[in-house]
Amino acid sequence: MPLICVSSPKGGVGKTTLVANLAYALARAGNKVLALDLDVQNSLRLHFGVPFSDERGYVATSQEAHDWSSSIFNAGSNLFLLPYGVVTDEQRLTFESSLAHDKNFLSRGLGSVLNYPGLIIVADLPQGPSAALSALSPLSDLHLIPLMADPASMATVPQVEEHPPMYGHYNPRHGFRYVVNQANSRRQISRDVLNLMEERFGERLLGVVHQDECVAEAGAAQQSIFNFHQASAAAFDIEILAKKVVDILGISVGNGTIPQKPGKQGF
Ligand SMILES: Nc1ncnc2c1ncn2[C@@H]1O[C@H](COP(=O)(O)OP(=O)(O)OP(=O)(O)O)[C@@H](O)[C@H]1O
Ligand SMILES: [Mg+2]
Repeated sequence: MPLICVSSPKGGVGKTTLVANLAYALARAGNKVLALDLDVQNSLRLHFGVPFSDERGYVATSQEAHDWSSSIFNAGSNLFLLPYGVVTDEQRLTFESSLAHDKNFLSRGLGSVLNYPGLIIVADLPQGPSAALSALSPLSDLHLIPLMADPASMATVPQVEEHPPMYGHYNPRHGFRYVVNQANSRRQISRDVLNLMEERFGERLLGVVHQDECVAEAGAAQQSIFNFHQASAAAFDIEILAKKVVDILGISVGNGTIPQKPGKQGF
């Protein structure tokens, strides 16, 4: 495995951007990494150079396909992507219903990747509670919860920490960690909320990623922040974050090759 689940009570805080760039950072460090999209927005693929017109993904065929690894894209050196894909509303509802009612649905579909020794999976979840989050949580090794340094994000913290938590059952060993994204030291409110969060989260605050135009521009160029501007503040922050994730999970570098079915979708 190990499996890192990136979810947040707040929308638009940078979950997808973080999943993509964390996956790039972990792959650059020599790990085999799979970026997994569980959000119907299907936007994770856009960080990996997949054309907007490419509608392929695992969800549309998830009922018939026993093993979803045939929908994996090769996204670069050491890097793989399992896109959600473009689906009809009926396909989405069926997928969500299977996630909610068949407790083995996700682990069956992801079986070969979950069992691949050392493969790091970084999963992008939709905002807030979801069938995907409930199904993925028991399989996860670490939950990363991005929030912004703003009062609206701060207001959601009790929901994350309530018992039982609304946002999934955290792995008892590693639990969850916060990532503050888009911190802006030039804004008083951002500084104040970051101070509050540092005080309240303590060790649970794994990292802070600065607000950096390079992040948005890298996303628009369908590149990682490392390819786009390696010397940027955000690239530095995300690299540090990746190192902390590796430390927490005790990941050792050089974790083999991902299984892929030849002849399917040409990957
Ligand atoms: N550190 C950053 N600095 C500047 N812009 C950022 C940063 N992180 C994310 N962004 C921008 O914030 C916007 C939202 O990011 P993203 O789509 O990753 O959020 P999300 O949490 O996945 O949203 P959703 O809840 O809709 O899934 C994007 O335009 C992205 O480029
Ligand atoms: Mg997103």
